[in-house]
Amino acid sequence: MSRKAIIVGATSGIALCLARLYIQNGWSLGLTGRNTERCKWLEGQFPSSTVTIEMELADADIARGQFDKLAGRMEGVDLVVIAAGTGHIDPELPWEKELETIATNVDGFAAIAHASIKLFERQGYGHLAAISSIAGIRGGGAPAYNASKAFVSNYLQGLRHHAYRSGKPIFVTDIQPGFVDTPMAKGDNLFWVAIPEKAAMQIYRALERRKRHCYVTRRWWLIAWALKLLPEPLYLRLS
Ligand SMILES: NC(=O)c1ccc[n+]([C@@H]2O[C@H](COP(=O)([O-])OP(=O)(O)OC[C@H]3O[C@@H](n4cnc5c(N)ncnc54)[C@H](OP(=O)(O)O)[C@@H]3O)[C@@H](O)[C@H]2O)c1
Repeated sequence: MSRKAIIVGATSGIALCLARLYIQNGWSLGLTGRNTERCKWLEGQFPSSTVTIEMELADADIARGQFDKLAGRMEGVDLVVIAAGTGHIDPELPWEKELETIATNVDGFAAIAHASIKLFERQGYGHLAAISSIAGIRGGGAPAYNASKAFVSNYLQGLRHHAYRSGKPIFVTDIQPGFVDTPMAKGDNLFWVAIPEKAAMQIYRALERRKRHCYVTRRWWLIAWALKLLPEPLYLRLS
């Protein structure tokens, strides 16, 4: 029997490449896109072995209900990958954009992550993974985005702690990418920009090994290490 995964926010970038890899490897997928048009397009990409539903993550309660329905239709889910995310770099720092980022990356993310763990507890097994970011290591030029990704990593760690205490085979993976060549790679002075296919392959391998954490691409551990150590005045000058 094929393994089953739900990928949240599969309409573009890293998640779309990841969905292709899972299909190539014989998985059945439940995919979400945020509107009818995007979902139709997604269905065209994967005519078989997939169920596609609409999910706007910024409406956390509605998104959670849609997730539960999708999981019910799939009758057993081995893996949930939460890839959807948003963020803005705007020197004016408009509150609407900050709020949209928090609603999507914090409220929406947490609703689906929590629903996934509850599903896995009922099933007795499962694997939750989500894409946070290197940006979550420190505050930066997109305050809500960086803070939201810190929340993602920290919440995942808490859920891993919770799952460990359950004694059931439930795994949690935090994926921290550096720059990947998608619409989400914003700002100037980008470096070490990976193509999304490479990022997806590294994520796929890390998830097959049920790793707790992975940097994508792998050499971003070096930047992560530097970000953790740089004194604030030097960090402000360099970032
Ligand atoms: N690219 C990078 O350099 C980079 C670095 C670190 C972390 N990340 C993270 O990687 C993840 C995937 O991003 P990506 O690089 O693959 O960029 P992407 O191609 O722009 O993908 C972002 C995905 O999130 C979906 N999305 C955004 N807001 C949403 C909302 N409110 N409700 C539901 N879906 C929503 C988008 O849907 P639509 O297709 O409808 O827009 C799209 O499918 C994100 O969480 C991002 O923060 C990216």
